[in-house]
Order: sequence, then C-alpha cells, then structure tokens
Amino acid sequence: AKELFTTSLGFTTDIIHKEMYIFADRKGRQLALRPEGTASVVRLVCQNKLIKESYPLKLYYWANMFRYERPQQGRYREFWQLGVELINAEGIIADYQALKLTADIFRGLGIKGFGFKLNYLGNNETKERYKKKLKDFIKKTVPNLCADCQRRNETNPLRILDCSLCKNKYQYPSYKDAWSEKDNNYINELNGILDKFNLPYQYDYHLVRGLDYYTGLIFEIDLGTEKAILGGGRYDNLYQEIGGVDVPALGFAIGIERLAEYLEEKKILKTEQAVDIFFLAMTTEAYPDILF
Ligand code: HAM
Repeated sequence: AKELFTTSLGFTTDIIHKEMYIFADRKGRQLALRPEGTASVVRLVCQNKLIKESYPLKLYYWANMFRYERPQQGRYREFWQLGVELINAEGIIADYQALKLTADIFRGLGIKGFGFKLNYLGNNETKERYKKKLKDFIKKTVPNLCADCQRRNETNPLRILDCSLCKNKYQYPSYKDAWSEKDNNYINELNGILDKFNLPYQYDYHLVRGLDYYTGLIFEIDLGTEKAILGGGRYDNLYQEIGGVDVPALGFAIGIERLAEYLEEKKILKTEQAVDIFFLAMTTEAYPDILF
C-alpha cells in the first residue's frame, strides 16, 4: 500500500512527492509500485517476526523498482536493484561489514579504483542541529531557491541538498560542523578501520541521500560517473516507525542498469564470448545424441 512508502521515506522527499506511481484498485485502495526495497523488507521482517535471535539477520533482494522520473541515460522509470540489508545490526562493526561487502562485490566484478563517498547524519539531535544551521543560513543568505526548494525550506530543509538546481548555488553549511563529540569519535574510529583495511573513501559533507529514514552513516559509490551506482546507509528508526520495534539496521542497493552500463563501457563485462561448438539436431532421433 501507498502508506508503507509515504510514512517511511518521508512525505517531502522527491520519491514520495513526485516519483511514486500511485493508483487506486477496484475497491479504491491506494496502491503504489515500490520505488525502493528497504521499506518492504522492514514490513516483511516485522510481519513474519523474522528476528528471533540477538545476532544480525542478513537479507538480499534482486528486484525491479519504479520511479516516475524524467527518463535519461542511467535513469529509468523501471529499473533493477540488488539490495542488501543487515538487520538487527548495531554499531561500527556492522557499518564496516556493509562497506566491506560492497567493496568485495565491486572488486569481485573487476572494478578497480572505486571509492566511497561518505557522510554521517547522526541521530535526531545531530540532524536537528544541522537543519537549524541550514535554515539560519538560508534566512541570512536568502538564496534564490527554485519553487520546489522554497517548499522544502518550509517542510524539510535537508532535501534542498538533493536538488540538482539549488545544491550547487551556495556554500551551504557543512554537516561536519553539526557533529557532536560522540559523532566525531565515531568518525575517527571508522576512518581508522577503513584505513587499516585499505577501503578508499572521501567525505562529502553535503551528501544527504534523498530519503528521510537515514540516521547514521550514509554512503554512495559513483565511479566517476555523474549518477551514483550504489547508495546506502544506516536507518535505526525505521523499524520503530513501521513495525513498532527497536531494531538497528543498515543496507545498500546497487542500480543494476547503471552498473551494467559502466561494465560495458569499460569493457569489464565479457558479453561477446565466442561459442566453442554449436550442435543443431536436424531430426528428432538426433536429440538424445546432443543432450550432454
Ligand atoms: P537509492 O539511492 O534511491 O537508495 O537507490 C539505489 C540505487 O538505485 C542508486 O544508486 C541507483 O544506482 C539506482 N537507481 C535509483 N533510481 C534509479 C533510476 N530511476 N534508474 C536507474 N537506477 C536507479 C535506495 O533505494 C535505498 N533503498 C538503498 C538502501 C538500502 N538504503 C538502505 N538499504
């Protein structure tokens, strides 16, 4: 149902506001084509009470998603995602595991030279601190925001940083300045782990990732392409919002078309392998001889 997404992804996100396919069924119930997989996984886990143990539950999906976006290369109205969710997984080790798994997938595919783009949104207090800084900045600077961002400024100023029109116009405050001492300690510890295990990363203090449910670490991989191939992050409040249970979790999703286009362009994907021998049965009697 539509509400699964409107409540979890945030009313003011672009996905909900502009990109969802919503229609009524014969009984007038509002249905939506899923724009992403995380909220559905949360519902699945809660409805089927899949968390029985104290250790993490690890799930993945390979599924089509639908967003009413302006179609262009790498942006489709129906596209596929490979998603991974680490559920009931708290803290820095789980965050590292998600990044490591991502790196293993990319390295396994033969992709070299990728790096993570990271930011840390923190808990509600840190988020509110940043939103206040952003609002103060906008009040003082009175930037010439597009019509959508004027609305975002009233409802959810963080979303201004998702806007391709407005995000590059001004030097918006850095998220770094909103981090508490605890946030800084977390970042330092994470950086130490990533350095130790040679996972390349860079912080983008204006990365906010277009969805409201993120709480802590968020990350993307863009491989030098304009559009991200992978996006993910921690969402520690989403289980409470959807299922009324406190379950820390994080995950990521890879856009399959974007990945395939990259692999083809860089000739990493071997799509034109020659056939060794080709058998063609000319009569029915010959079939058993070629089935081996
Ligand atoms: P997302 O960043 O909205 O995150 O999407 C993840 C990936 O899906 C993007 O990096 C991109 O490769 C691909 N993608 C998104 N929109 C399109 C499109 N219109 N056409 C082609 N590819 C697209 C999520 O969906 C989160 N659920 C990820 C996540 C999982 N966070 C935590 N767990």
